[in-house]
Amino acid sequence: MGKTIIISNRLPVQLQISNGTINAIPSVGGLATGMKSVHSGSESLWIGWSGLTDEETPPELEDDIDKALAKNGCAKVKLNAEEIDGFYFGFSNRTVWPLFHYFLEYSEFELDFWNTYKAVNQKFADAIIEKSNEDDTIWVHDYQLMLVPQMVREKRPDTTIGFFLHIPFPSYEIFRTLPWREEVLEGLLGSDLIGFHTYDYERHFLSSVRRLLGLDVSFNEIYLDNRVIKVDSFPMGIDYKKFKDAAILHASKSEGERSDLQMRLDSHKASAPDTKLILSIDRLDYSKGIAKRINAFEYFLNKYPEYKEKVRLIILAVPSRSNVPQYQLLKKEIDELVGRINGELSTVNWTPIWYFYRSLPFDNLIDLYTSSDIAWLTPLRDGMNLVAKEYIATRTDKTGVLILSEMAGSAYEMNEALLINPNNFEEQADTLKRAINMPVEEQVSRNEFLQNRLERYNVEVWAKEFMNALNEKRDTGKAFVSQK
Ligand code: ADP
Ligand code: G6P
Repeated sequence: MGKTIIISNRLPVQLQISNGTINAIPSVGGLATGMKSVHSGSESLWIGWSGLTDEETPPELEDDIDKALAKNGCAKVKLNAEEIDGFYFGFSNRTVWPLFHYFLEYSEFELDFWNTYKAVNQKFADAIIEKSNEDDTIWVHDYQLMLVPQMVREKRPDTTIGFFLHIPFPSYEIFRTLPWREEVLEGLLGSDLIGFHTYDYERHFLSSVRRLLGLDVSFNEIYLDNRVIKVDSFPMGIDYKKFKDAAILHASKSEGERSDLQMRLDSHKASAPDTKLILSIDRLDYSKGIAKRINAFEYFLNKYPEYKEKVRLIILAVPSRSNVPQYQLLKKEIDELVGRINGELSTVNWTPIWYFYRSLPFDNLIDLYTSSDIAWLTPLRDGMNLVAKEYIATRTDKTGVLILSEMAGSAYEMNEALLINPNNFEEQADTLKRAINMPVEEQVSRNEFLQNRLERYNVEVWAKEFMNALNEKRDTGKAFVSQK
């Protein structure tokens, strides 16, 4: 049996060049952070975009770039600025991302975007053919590469190909609005196994296949020509041990070893021991409901003014896709909202919202998770939301309250969290109040269930289950066809 080839647009590291030196910085986002743990413990090769366009890559550094990537088990697909524009900022993030997250009005149907998406998917498929052998197993990831399975299948009909979608698959009524809907489905159907985070996304996909392509679908199998394609749900886990161990190490640090951020958090706790810290961490993305969350916080403070000076909301928003107009507008909206609310409500001793717009090192993420009494995550739509799982994993004394949107894929597995509808401000305000006053015993008992589940179904188990299903499909593929 050959090796596993992982393929995604975003590699686990992003390269940056400053003063002729190449720096590899960790990528943010669920795909990269989750798959990184799977990749580092295996012999796999990960193919993707380096984060630098051809125009940003000095030719004399090409070899060094390849070496820097090879050190991380990665190989690059070269993309120029025009390709990144049409494929990444265009079709991936101005067409598919909004559509699949139910922001139909944001989705742009541009023929140029689509043509570039097709051409770039072909580049990724060609890179797979070039860098892999017949007996390798190909694992394609996410919405940027939905045509790749079929493109690889055309050249290598017998290769085993898996595909995993890290974002929601929307209901048929939404998906059918895409002008290139049949081509996208056909691209995905080049796979042997297609995985989703939840059973709902799987059902939506099967329904689109049945209704748009008229294919024979039975339970979770699709019959196409002489092939059987399996579809299943695999909720992605986290590297539980990494977060738990980091939190244990964090707790053992002496004063001199603490980060500046941690010292700030500690001094806040010391000066206002009754104040609860409420944390939210997301990429700055409209699907995450950040602006609505800030509005809901203001609503809460107006409805329950007794909590003024008793709570502080920390918002960590990671810069993301900043060439896309909707993201620029959202950044402006959040800046204004935070400015207005802090301006109106701050007192000499209290600023209601601490807002950070940046990517932070892993240790600072742990500082925030471990210091916060409440994690408040309110996506309007989210394929999974790993931040919710990471927060729980770092709560080594089992205290802490997770308030989570029911629109996140992770809500299906995290019933012991306080689940809310992010559009319901009344419910959000009441839930915040409940979280602030939740007895420690209740926090512990809820988190015990959550932690046990997250520890058991970690990212390694997730990847193993997907790969086992893919291997099983390869071994029994012919038998399926003859039974049919
Ligand atoms: P998405 O994939 O949509 O970005 P997730 O919540 O599933 O949302 O995943 C986000 C990932 O990015 C998490 O693993 C989280 O630890 C990481 N992350 C979020 N914020 C930061 C940050 N400021 N710095 C570094 N990593 C971050
Ligand atoms: C989500 C997507 C990933 C993507 C990540 C970060 O997790 O599912 O495919 O990599 O967001 O977004 P970016 O556009 O920076 O790759």
